[in-house]
Amino acid sequence: MYLTNEEEHILNGEAGETLRKAIEILVALGDIYGADGLIPIKSAQIAGVSYKTIGDAGLEWISDLEGQVKVPAILNPAGMDLEDWERLRISPEFAERQKAIIQAYKKLGISCECTCTPYTLEGFSAGYGDHLAWSESSAISYANSVIGARTNREGGPSALSAALLGKTANYGLHLEENRIPEVSVSVECSLKESDYGALGYVAGKIIGSKIPIFHLKDTPEKDELKALGAAMAASGAVALYHVEGVTPEACRLGFEEPEEKIIIERSQLDEVYESRERAGKEPELITIGCPHCSAAELKKVAELLKGKTVSKETWIFTSRELAKRYPDYIRTIEESGARVVCDTCMVVSPATNNYSCVMVNSGKAFAYVPGMCGAESVYGNMEACIEEATGRKGKKAGGSY
Ligand code: F3S
Repeated sequence: MYLTNEEEHILNGEAGETLRKAIEILVALGDIYGADGLIPIKSAQIAGVSYKTIGDAGLEWISDLEGQVKVPAILNPAGMDLEDWERLRISPEFAERQKAIIQAYKKLGISCECTCTPYTLEGFSAGYGDHLAWSESSAISYANSVIGARTNREGGPSALSAALLGKTANYGLHLEENRIPEVSVSVECSLKESDYGALGYVAGKIIGSKIPIFHLKDTPEKDELKALGAAMAASGAVALYHVEGVTPEACRLGFEEPEEKIIIERSQLDEVYESRERAGKEPELITIGCPHCSAAELKKVAELLKGKTVSKETWIFTSRELAKRYPDYIRTIEESGARVVCDTCMVVSPATNNYSCVMVNSGKAFAYVPGMCGAESVYGNMEACIEEATGRKGKKAGGSY
């Protein structure tokens, strides 16, 4: 792998220990994956923030680093709402450790807005063709697929290293030839809203880490693409997908149809919704906002909850910036007794571990809650989640609902 003179100096430790460690990580990855050199990045998004997932070893590693990031860098959700951690019964010990992690990142010049939807924030845009180093799987999928930017599935340490250097190794999805669809997925039914999360959950299990091109009967909205990508990145390891006639590379580059073909039918999506009937227990907790709710999703939740009262614990996750931007939606949601929670989510917060059955409208949360939180997960569309929360039960959890 070619390094410039300046990069060689950094690798020799002449720019300090933090940058030496950072470039060592990137060069090691570059050598493994055949990179020809380092390329500049526009931004970094750094996972490995929740104390629940990185523990004391992670805190120690970050605390030892010095210097400042060279490009705009932002954090993934932490383990708690940083301004109001007590409301979800987080222990003071956990809160103390979590705050120390945030401080360690802040010291490096990283923005402590903790969200998996950085593309919704003002001043943190990514554009077509931009090289990025992002590390939360749904954000990676959105950046690659919906924006047409280029990022590999970075780990927390490699994204942080890239932020400190302002560069990443040039391999994998940074190269146009590695972004061509490998499997064609035809969906035989019409889709709306939470169907996309169910589709992603089903498709990810079949596709694994390949790059799919979808042929859909409908034109999905951005939030529906967000849900599709997040679910595929969780049940599989899909970091980039295309949708014929919709996503930017499919539109601009006009790919040839791959030989491998998959057909997905309505009955496969119905099986995901049937998790509600299959569950051995009643949901105790309802969660919406995986990935973090957009403005349109907050508006819809507010409309569905307006004038109602929840009878079950109900958490709506979004970024702090959007919560501040839309105080009317937040007020309406909280007047129902539901809580709007920022900086964290149902998967990376230890708060979810207090429940044994969680209802979600996200294919990603549906996939991760059992393993990460030790709770059964059941799937429904947003309306079904709100009906469960407000005690109006007995309806179908989604699909043709
Ligand atoms: Fe975001 Fe947490 Fe889901 S990080 S994508 S809300 S698992």
